[in-house]
Amino acid sequence: MVVPAGRTAHEILAEGEQYTDHPLNWSGILENREELSHGSDKFLEVKELWKIFGPKAEDLLQSDLKFSSKQEILDQTGCVVGLRNVSFNVRRGEFFMLMGLSGSGKSTCIRCLLRLIEPTAGHVLVNGEDICAFDKATLMSLRRKTFGMVFQHFGLFPHYTVRDNVAYGLKVGGASRVESYEKAQKAIETVGLKGWEDYLPGSLSGGMQQRVGIARALAKDPEILLMDEPFSGLDPLIRREMQDELVELQDKLHKTIIFVTHDLHEALKLGDRIAIMRDGEIIQLGTPEDVVTSPADDYVREFVQDASPAKILTADRIKEEPSLLIYEWQGPHVVRHLLRAARRQNAFVVSKHHTLLGLVTREGIDDLIKQGAASIKEAILADVPKCEPHTIVEDLFPLATSSHFSIAVTDSAGRFLGVIHDRTILDSMISDREETNND
Ligand SMILES: Nc1ncnc2c1ncn2[C@@H]1O[C@H](COP(=O)(O)OP(=O)(O)OP(=O)(O)O)[C@@H](O)[C@H]1O
Ligand SMILES: [Mg+2]
Repeated sequence: MVVPAGRTAHEILAEGEQYTDHPLNWSGILENREELSHGSDKFLEVKELWKIFGPKAEDLLQSDLKFSSKQEILDQTGCVVGLRNVSFNVRRGEFFMLMGLSGSGKSTCIRCLLRLIEPTAGHVLVNGEDICAFDKATLMSLRRKTFGMVFQHFGLFPHYTVRDNVAYGLKVGGASRVESYEKAQKAIETVGLKGWEDYLPGSLSGGMQQRVGIARALAKDPEILLMDEPFSGLDPLIRREMQDELVELQDKLHKTIIFVTHDLHEALKLGDRIAIMRDGEIIQLGTPEDVVTSPADDYVREFVQDASPAKILTADRIKEEPSLLIYEWQGPHVVRHLLRAARRQNAFVVSKHHTLLGLVTREGIDDLIKQGAASIKEAILADVPKCEPHTIVEDLFPLATSSHFSIAVTDSAGRFLGVIHDRTILDSMISDREETNND
């Protein structure tokens, strides 16, 4: 288990802080959950945050030496600049990425957000309250109730069963035994570990142990998730799967997530916004598109130069309004007429609530009419290629090649949002390349 220097795993967990790894299918947690309110621009505010490691750090901040480079400060004082005047706001429900090379200050930043590392100066406000002014008890309560932590190295108690590992944080947080085990059980089932409750971590595979860690973090249903390189230990295929599941979850949950990575593609895929750090400073903060299209300096340019449009462009960006959309209640003769008039061989069908039901083809409709059917229901092909708005173009290729129909874009509730034709996928790649070349 990796813990901040000088503290044991027990000390940290006793404070209700949970170190885990690898989020997985969390959707079971969401049952009966009220929707979180959305849109507060300043759910989390970080203001002029400094962290200097070393003796007399406060004195250093009083002197002009603080404006010197990290290396100069180290040479002259022996102090290490962890964070330098870092400010940013995170909206409720936002997926916020911290990205940078090793040593740039990402972990220091995320740990300062709940004072696992004490900032040398500056403020962190959660919902308007400055947690830097909190006494120990209030801080502990905030950590237990509001924050969930998912770290690269899962930290399970080897001598505790799966159930006890998951329930531990709840119990030390003051929940009754019955409540702790109930919530633990739900979280265990959510991550697909039902039946493994009485096993010790040592008898589970690495992946399963990681799920235990996730269940433990989620059991208390935190508002803010802090994730420090949670996927970096995974092989690429599993990593991608985990990322997809996290995106899916976030679509439903709208958690506020601060996610640390040094992988650009991960940042582009997951983040609503990305803060890029170097030597303890944020040198660019923007949407994935901002970062890729207008890198702030050579450091960022270096990061993004290999970014392929296929990994950045999303289905949402390239989807189109369909030239024809069929409603389920329309009769076969009407549909045939509409298909002919629009010169279409097929069209997507939606319900009254705009839920995608599938697709009808001219052939299918003609057959129905021959049979004298009154409804088009029988002709609807439900198995059509579909993707969600966040799906990146790279992931559309296999969908496009596996079917001769266009791809429907639907939201997580299955509502139809638009269509993507094969041609559009190719065009989007070419035009993006051209723009990049022109730049
Ligand atoms: N306890 C500490 N004492 C002294 N210096 C520290 C301490 N913790 C971190 N640092 C320094 O602070 C800087 C930022 O470190 P941090 O761990 O936040 O970087 P990071 O971006 O998370 O890197 P990585 O990608 O390797 O995890 C580094 O120069 C590091 O050496
Ligand atoms: Mg780190």
